[in-house]
Amino acid sequence: MAPPFPITRLRRLRRSEALRGMVRETMVTAHDLIQPIFIEEGIDDPLPIAEMPGVSRIPERKLPHVVEGLARDGVKALMLFGISHHKDASGSDAWNRDGLVARMVRGAKRAAPELVVIPDVCFCEYTDHGHCGVIEHDHVANDITIDNLARQAVTAADAGADMVAPSAMMDGQVAAIRNALDQAGHPDTPIMAYSTKFASGFYGPFRVAAGCELKGDRKTYQMDPMNGREALRESIQDEAEGADMLMVKPGLAYLDVLARLRERTLLPLAVYQVSGEYAMIKFAAAAGAVNEQVIVRETLGAFKRAGADLILSYFARDVIREGF
Ligand code: PBG
Repeated sequence: MAPPFPITRLRRLRRSEALRGMVRETMVTAHDLIQPIFIEEGIDDPLPIAEMPGVSRIPERKLPHVVEGLARDGVKALMLFGISHHKDASGSDAWNRDGLVARMVRGAKRAAPELVVIPDVCFCEYTDHGHCGVIEHDHVANDITIDNLARQAVTAADAGADMVAPSAMMDGQVAAIRNALDQAGHPDTPIMAYSTKFASGFYGPFRVAAGCELKGDRKTYQMDPMNGREALRESIQDEAEGADMLMVKPGLAYLDVLARLRERTLLPLAVYQVSGEYAMIKFAAAAGAVNEQVIVRETLGAFKRAGADLILSYFARDVIREGF
């Protein structure tokens, strides 16, 4: 037990910036951050996303230029989302060898081979109904969808992806992808599982950003935001299926899940500061209610303090460029 006041004075170690720096417990660096980007085929000019000020859909032909710029700014890793003009019922463009996923991965790797290129492996941007898999009898069919996810992951790995990140929240998707990657000669391609992903209202701006056709919701596959124990089960299950990294998504409203999961796994743990979290900060700062730079660093620090090793954030590039 520490001796009580006045012998103990916690303010002693807060007296100068240098002192505060010495006792700072949490640090965020460029290596912790993953920048998500949106790439649209068939457009000529960047398309600003009104719901996410500062974020645009990048025309596919400008991808090399943009990726080179991100690498020059010090970004180390990218998460790729495609906006497809070739949607169908199953999202087949996503596993097509010359489809958008394959082309984005090839383009990004060619532009900046040193970057860690991670495609989001899902179907919601590639299906004409907007669900993350195949529909059968008004229901997203789990076992057909995981076969398709496996095909998409192999296509992405063939195209040069450094890692794949399945986000469809189908049961067995990690095992199916691990098995398919191994069979296809990619035993060394890691899987970053979106292992605990909630059916969250915080994805609102993303659905516009990604041109998602969804009319209903994803509550039969993404998790109920009210469930903490189940959140741990989801991630622990993905670890058992062979995931190399786990993820909690969204971030700020789920720090408890992140902290509890940190106690239960030795795998690297990622967190996704999603589109709605980004939008809240941007719009509140634009209204003069908060200081964007300050609270962005505060939220990123909070994710690390809660146990995240990696943070997916639309602020990644800005923070890396401006300094921490
Ligand atoms: C694909 C996917 C989504 C997000 C990442 N991958 C959308 C969703 O699940 O509806 C959301 C990311 C964000 O909101 O920033 N399934």
